[in-house]
Amino acid sequence: MIKPDGVQRGLVGRIVQRIEAKGLKIVAMKMRTLPQDVAREHYAEHSQKPFFGDLVSFITSGPSVPMVVEGKDAISEMRKMNGATNPTKAQPGTIRGDFGLDMGRNVIHGSDSPESAKREIALHFGEAELSSYTRIDEAWLY
Ligand code: TYD
Ligand code: MG
Repeated sequence: MIKPDGVQRGLVGRIVQRIEAKGLKIVAMKMRTLPQDVAREHYAEHSQKPFFGDLVSFITSGPSVPMVVEGKDAISEMRKMNGATNPTKAQPGTIRGDFGLDMGRNVIHGSDSPESAKREIALHFGEAELSSYTRIDEAWLY
């Protein structure tokens, strides 16, 4: 999910381009401002952390772009592309390493396991919003 800073800084196109260029398949995508309850649920694992309040107000402060990304090792590949949580620690070549400087405003979120992906997808999309299609380059990717 591209966070509000990524949207307001005009980074959506460049991020989507990286995901597509990698060979991963975007099967759902929308723009939405997360309601408070969705944001709190999205980051439920951090509800006891000192940064939780700031995190929820930031993530609800403007539109985000949630996406569902499929492909070989999609979860770990996306997290690798996103880079370390703190953009000042993230390697150049990663989304956070190339586009961020602030821990709170780190441009993009990526699910950390199949269980979180399933839970997070359900927070943003209904079954009917997930598309199924073949990429023209699929035979060359795997
Ligand atoms: P976390 O799940 O640890 O990182 P990631 O996004 O890489 O999975 O934390 C969720 C978000 O919370 C993180 O992207 C930025 C924010 N955050 C802070 O603001 N301060 C912190 O100390 C941490 C660990 C995270
Ligand atoms: Mg996380």
